[in-house]
Amino acid sequence: MSRLRARIIGTGSCLPEKRLTNHELAKMVDTSDEWIFSRTGIRERRIAAEGEYTSDLAVEAGRRAIAAAKIPADSLDLIIVATTTPDLIFPSTASIVQHKLGVSASRMPAFDVQAVCAGFIHALAIADQFIRAGTCWRVLVIGAETTSRILDWQDRGTCILFGDGAGAVVLEAEIDGERGILSTHLHADGSQLELLLTDGGISRGKSPQGGLGVIRMQGNEVFKQAVKAMESCVDETLLANNVSKEQIDWLVPHQANIRIIQSTAKRLGMPMERVAVTVDRHGNTSAASVPLALDEVVRSGQIQPGHRVMMVAFGGGFTWGSALVRW
Ligand SMILES: CC(C)(COP(=O)(O)OP(=O)(O)OC[C@H]1O[C@@H](n2cnc3c(N)ncnc32)[C@H](O)[C@@H]1OP(=O)(O)O)[C@@H](O)C(=O)NCCC(=O)NCCS
Repeated sequence: MSRLRARIIGTGSCLPEKRLTNHELAKMVDTSDEWIFSRTGIRERRIAAEGEYTSDLAVEAGRRAIAAAKIPADSLDLIIVATTTPDLIFPSTASIVQHKLGVSASRMPAFDVQAVCAGFIHALAIADQFIRAGTCWRVLVIGAETTSRILDWQDRGTCILFGDGAGAVVLEAEIDGERGILSTHLHADGSQLELLLTDGGISRGKSPQGGLGVIRMQGNEVFKQAVKAMESCVDETLLANNVSKEQIDWLVPHQANIRIIQSTAKRLGMPMERVAVTVDRHGNTSAASVPLALDEVVRSGQIQPGHRVMMVAFGGGFTWGSALVRW
């Protein structure tokens, strides 16, 4: 029996124009460029303009991925958007993206996935399952956020960390090919949700600040959990595929903190030259961070056919996961 595998045939990304540097942040809260850079590796992040929504960034990233894949947009069978900052409570951002892409007439399904910073890996895993099952041939997977809209701009422990952006991939089924997604691994542990959450929401009601909620985090504890989870996910992925560390060509990790990225790279014995790093310029863009970093290394020509690429992410929930791809 023939086997279907999901191959990434195009990547794309989009960042808002506006840059917010550490120096500018230091005028808003009691912090400094030196503190932020030494603890996180972040120098600046992008912030969506007024009237610029998650779907706008998602559509542009999606268009660029579709163009790179050289396919007509209406040949897609499914659109999945990973986001924690949707335009509206409903409809899903994926429905809005479908409309803005001008492909509503195709009647393809479109839905959102919410797994915070691990959202893109979750969306990728779902798309992979649809393709392996033979249900879909071409899937657009997008990670997109306007995280700046759920920040407390007076909380120096969180407002320095996050940024806005979007990244996307087009997946296509390949019959009996060697390339494509080799495996995906997803996890959640809801027992520690108080360590990283928003302080308000739809059902619980408004945050003390009045909005739908802003990010609250015990950074130190989250840091330890992120390191542990990402390292164990890397080990699990190697074992599942019976490959050694040396056989991994590229690491594309979630971009929360350079020290977390370095510890994951160390676990793989991976020199930093083969690790995608955008945290210095993007900050933590949550579900957008992995596809943004992936698009950068793909477009630079550094990822070549045959390379094994490991993606790994960790986020609120806690949720975490990985994907191993043969490029
Ligand atoms: C947030 C993070 C950078 C903070 O670094 P840290 O070394 O853990 O710092 P701590 O939170 O222990 O704080 C140490 C001190 O710095 C202070 N501080 C916190 N933010 C600061 C800032 N922006 N500027 C200056 N000082 C700051 C704290 O108030 C604390 O002061 P105190 O010792 O007088 O109480 C780090 O914990 C982190 O990156 N955590 C993981 C975040 C993450 O990945 N989240 C998303 C997962 S998807």
